[in-house]
Amino acid sequence: MHVSLIAPKNEIIQLPVSICFCVPSGLEDIAREEIAEKLVQYPRLPPASKWITFPGLVQCSLQTSGLDINLKTDLCTQVRGIQFFSVEKMFLVVASLDVSEDEFQAKPADSTSGKIPWIEWLTSCITNCALESWIGAARILNAAGFCPGESSPEEILFRATFLRGDFKHPIANSQTMAGALGASVLSVSSNAKVKLENFEIEVLGCLIPGGSFAQLLLGFRLESYSATAEPISWRHRVISGRTSLRPTIAYCIARMANIQPGQVVLDPCCGVGTIPIEASLTCQPLAHFICGDIELDSIHNKANINITAAAPYSASVVAWNAKALPIRDQLVDIAITDLPWGMREGSFNMCAKLYPKLMKQLIRVVKKGSGKAYILTLDHQLLKHTLNTPWCQKAWKVCFVRDIRIGYQVKLFCLERTED
Ligand SMILES: C[S@@+](CC[C@H](N)C(=O)[O-])C[C@H]1O[C@@H](n2cnc3c(N)ncnc32)[C@H](O)[C@@H]1O
Repeated sequence: MHVSLIAPKNEIIQLPVSICFCVPSGLEDIAREEIAEKLVQYPRLPPASKWITFPGLVQCSLQTSGLDINLKTDLCTQVRGIQFFSVEKMFLVVASLDVSEDEFQAKPADSTSGKIPWIEWLTSCITNCALESWIGAARILNAAGFCPGESSPEEILFRATFLRGDFKHPIANSQTMAGALGASVLSVSSNAKVKLENFEIEVLGCLIPGGSFAQLLLGFRLESYSATAEPISWRHRVISGRTSLRPTIAYCIARMANIQPGQVVLDPCCGVGTIPIEASLTCQPLAHFICGDIELDSIHNKANINITAAAPYSASVVAWNAKALPIRDQLVDIAITDLPWGMREGSFNMCAKLYPKLMKQLIRVVKKGSGKAYILTLDHQLLKHTLNTPWCQKAWKVCFVRDIRIGYQVKLFCLERTED
């Protein structure tokens, strides 16, 4: 086992400041582009020296060495001030641990105790990384972020979270690993107390590919200054729905679509309006968004209310059936949508009838030769089947299909309208 210290005990930092950004899995390249673009806008921040992406994570090291803990926290304060639309949460990496496959797969030596080797690894990592000094720094850093009203010098309220990515342990799930991480923090810090809500510090453990098998990163969450009281899943919306898309995903897809001022953007199945709202507020305020849904409740009691509250420059919401869009031919530059699938909304049969009819409508309304469609669905077989019909093959060129994880594995299809 090898522990690399990013915060040695004497608090002289020899290694770069490294920040991990949790981003939508499958859209890391788009998120990295946003993060890089925003970091360079802050002249007091040193340039990025290294970027690494893993499923659901972007790690950025800043070109710094020999900085003390105060300067390091000052850099983090600046990063906290930046609003990253593709980022779910970010954390400062304070230690990393090389984990071999044998160590990772090992079952408890004493099967009655149920203790997994994680506890030992984590405790060693935490003991070696001068966690106490980091807790102090993280408290100052996040003082205005988590629960300013509940801080007390005697107690440190913390929560432990474990992100295990694609690494599946034979017996331990993410909760068990988070529990082990929490127990390790408690073992080294006498005044730490677990609090799952209104905590002051979130300690993160994260498994990433690398080293001999995996790397365990240990860090502290940096709360964004720009975060509102609501969780990020509510960003820019006052009402959410059962199947609403995460705003970070909507942002990444809209960014990928590179919407230009004056363009007409369509979401034929808009639900509560996440895509037009995010695309307008975070990507291209000067485009015109047209969206609609078949469910009157979604339109009247959700999308309309969200759009009124978010107040984008130009967005109209219509109650419609996407099988017959009330839109003239070739009006739309870009269609971006998150299609209904399976039993979540309706049934497989309902989707099997909808997809071909919707694709026919998109062929009609999206501009020939230049128009594009970005379609997200879990029923990718159904969409592929539709795209393989001769009439679809003539009208659409498939630019790419990529896997995105939103709890489920879904696919994003990027299509370009041909001249036919
Ligand atoms: C996956 S949800 C979209 C979620 C949306 N992106 C959001 O964030 O709220 C799919 C939507 O398609 C709508 N839908 C289903 N059949 C439709 C149809 N024939 N015409 C228009 N919308 C339809 C559903 O009512 C549902 O709101």
